[in-house]
Amino acid sequence: MKSPVSLTRPVRTGDAPRRISILGATGSVGTSTVDVILGRPGAFEVEAVTAGTRAAELAEIAIRLKARIAVVADPSCHGALVEALAGTGIAAAAGEAALIEAAARPVDLVVAAIVGAAGLAPTMAAIEAGSDIALANKECLVCAGSLFLGRAEAAGVHVLPVDSEHNAIFQALEAENMPAVRSITITASGGPFRSWTREAMQRASVAEALNHPRWSMGPKITIDSATMMNKGLEVIEAHHLFGLDADRLEVVVHPQSVVHGWITYADGSILAQLGAADMRIPIAHCLAWPRRYATETKPFDLVSIGTLTFEKPDLERFPALALARGALSGGDRATNILNAANEVAVDAFLKGGIGFLDIAACVAETLDRLAGGSGLPDIDSVAAALAVDGEGRRVARAVLGGRRALRTG
Ligand SMILES: NC(=O)c1ccc[n+]([C@@H]2O[C@H](COP(=O)([O-])OP(=O)(O)OC[C@H]3O[C@@H](n4cnc5c(N)ncnc54)[C@H](OP(=O)(O)O)[C@@H]3O)[C@@H](O)[C@H]2O)c1
Repeated sequence: MKSPVSLTRPVRTGDAPRRISILGATGSVGTSTVDVILGRPGAFEVEAVTAGTRAAELAEIAIRLKARIAVVADPSCHGALVEALAGTGIAAAAGEAALIEAAARPVDLVVAAIVGAAGLAPTMAAIEAGSDIALANKECLVCAGSLFLGRAEAAGVHVLPVDSEHNAIFQALEAENMPAVRSITITASGGPFRSWTREAMQRASVAEALNHPRWSMGPKITIDSATMMNKGLEVIEAHHLFGLDADRLEVVVHPQSVVHGWITYADGSILAQLGAADMRIPIAHCLAWPRRYATETKPFDLVSIGTLTFEKPDLERFPALALARGALSGGDRATNILNAANEVAVDAFLKGGIGFLDIAACVAETLDRLAGGSGLPDIDSVAAALAVDGEGRRVARAVLGGRRALRTG
């Protein structure tokens, strides 16, 4: 098993503030990161904060964190950002190039919390600049995992997993015992439809799918949790981060979301990480690593929780998980297409255009139509990753255009 980049522990001496940037600062992970930073006055100097469109929210965050620059990806939001930051001394910029320039400002750590494949180019720019990465944006690894980690290794940067399950594994992993890892298990809450029938799931409304029982997250990952595509993306993420083949990466449904993941070692020992379903915990772990910070999270009491339960995932009702495993065996191009089709289908579902089960059906059909990947480039550059992503989106939209072909039953 190859070593993940993040296992070489740096020695941190002294208490100089850590220089940090947050990509996707206005989102769910982004604002949890802001909370962690504000809870440690003097521990951080913030260089750049970025958002997609929400200029007013971004300006407020930039002011609270005393950031040097704020960037919105959407150029039409530039005026609003400039106005909101007038007189603060914080630079304002907009557009794709400005976002990449901000991500490439060298800092100690970049929190990569943009949602979707849109996060790939800026996060790669941060890697090329030599900044360590606290990676929430799992789509980077799903779209271009080998390229992403290859570049990180070449640049000598650490990639620290923010995703709670991968952060759990990262915490339980003993670098010197990597060859003795028998398997890695990540848990899934099961989402809002854990006990629903397929018929009920096909009629599920957007509001019902967004009603996650445990985690408060952005809309895309919340729908991914309801389909369990999120867990499929996480198996792909774990494969890249920890260097294990799919047959040693297990998924277990654990509705209480207390145990986030565990490692089974060859001697029969199992090391797990437990904690509240609060993203500030894994974020604080990455921001402090290899140290630990105190957080403001609520006291956690296993006795009052009482019972922890574990189930096998139902692949009939949640086919997305099997689709992701299948794509993983097809390599980076297949997982990139899986992600592109999923982004298109989730967006269509959120806009009320398709039924809930149509999401996985669209992904399956897109993968089928692009099977073999003839004419698509190998993913050896960001441009190639985005070209495959673009083709995946085009085919997924065509699939949705002829929706009667979908096999939702
Ligand atoms: N939320 C969680 O608890 C959680 C847990 C584990 C992993 N993750 C992963 O972390 C990532 C972020 O998730 P989230 O739930 O925080 O998402 P979110 O709440 O939707 O936030 C997404 C962030 O990305 C920005 N953004 C959206 N489109 C963009 C674009 N085209 N270019 C640049 N910026 C763009 C958004 O800006 P605007 O606000 O302006 O739209 C926002 O700041 C995802 O990859 C997710 O899978 C999330």
